[in-house]
Amino acid sequence: MSNETKIVSVDLGERSYDISIGSDGPVGAVLSGLDVKRALIVSDSNVAALYLPWCRKKLSEAGLEVSECVFPAGEPSKCLETMAMLYDAAVSARLDRSSVVVALGGGVVGDAAGFLAASYLRGVRFVQVPTTLLAMVDSSVGGKTGINLPQGKNLVGAFYQPVEVDINLDTLVTLQNREYRAGLAEVVKYGVIWDADLFALLEQRTDDLLKQDPMLLADVVARCCEIKAEVVSQDEREGGLRAILNFGHTLGHALENILGYGEWLHGEAVSAGMVYAAEVSVAQHGLTRVEADRIHDVLQALQLPVQWRGPNGDVAWSLVLDAMGRDKKTIGSVLKFVLSDRIGHVDFGCVVAEEALAEVFSG
Ligand code: NAD
Ligand code: GLY
Repeated sequence: MSNETKIVSVDLGERSYDISIGSDGPVGAVLSGLDVKRALIVSDSNVAALYLPWCRKKLSEAGLEVSECVFPAGEPSKCLETMAMLYDAAVSARLDRSSVVVALGGGVVGDAAGFLAASYLRGVRFVQVPTTLLAMVDSSVGGKTGINLPQGKNLVGAFYQPVEVDINLDTLVTLQNREYRAGLAEVVKYGVIWDADLFALLEQRTDDLLKQDPMLLADVVARCCEIKAEVVSQDEREGGLRAILNFGHTLGHALENILGYGEWLHGEAVSAGMVYAAEVSVAQHGLTRVEADRIHDVLQALQLPVQWRGPNGDVAWSLVLDAMGRDKKTIGSVLKFVLSDRIGHVDFGCVVAEEALAEVFSG
């Protein structure tokens, strides 16, 4: 891995921050200029076993008194019971308003630790140290934090920005291949919604991406972070533009919901959802057949699902429609889609008649 660190800035006025992308960089570099004495590292059981000593050492070297709280790995931990455990840990660690929460892990850790930081003492600083590809290119950037309720995913949360995001690409070496590929689905998404050149690069270098070519990975992760930073800077609270980040997610969330979380990883469901959204775009939004096929083909080459009726091809439309209607982003029962008219550009808030959606689904 090259030692060169790339910096991407998220421009949000007084809540602006930098994302550093490299290998083994400083954790919490921004903290050295601030009066911070205590840090609470939040991590999950898998990540802590691999990277907690490294993270603790970095923070101790920066002169911080470090405590830690580790919960069992997996989506079920993004829950109220974990929050209770995190608040206990924050009290035991004697965190005060000048302390910092450090999220070391994937999106589950980042979302829960971010919500701890947003809510404890009405807000303490927090640093994201993402260790999955999905967390590096998506969940660690932009300030969406929260947990699930038994009634649904991400139902409790807050917009709360980190003070810094530290991406250590070397941590991806230990990530399971399937988790890594699921993160690639979100990478493809950025190409479709914003950057045709990025999309073409992904098409040309699928093998290198699957092999985690270090230079390519650093460039691609940095480009995805730039795009997310640009979108979030324009629309922090999803009043409009930020919705484009949900390309492929309307069906993706519905499939996750129907199949039961865990059958397909989030990125896998999003992959199938993007192929479906591309087909709806051909039918309704002027995307050419050739471009829809390119989206399908790059996802297939990255060994991601492209079958939108579920892994066995047997998910019923009635269930999908019902699940899409229950999605928290569905406003006033009108289904809104993000559709593409050409690779590198999408529109949000597209209303599509139910019959048209059903026709593409049964295709
Ligand atoms: P995750 O956090 O569950 O991590 C996946 C698995 O990989 C876990 O078992 C974890 O322990 C393990 N792991 C993490 N890093 C590792 C590493 N370097 N080496 C070995 N194992 C490692 O899942 P995820 O895909 O990172 O995140 C999914 C979560 O992110 C969901 O809860 C989703 O709702 C949320 N999310 C949030 C946003 C946002 O904007 N806040 C965006 C997208 C997704
Ligand atoms: N992951 C979608 C968003 O951050 O808005």
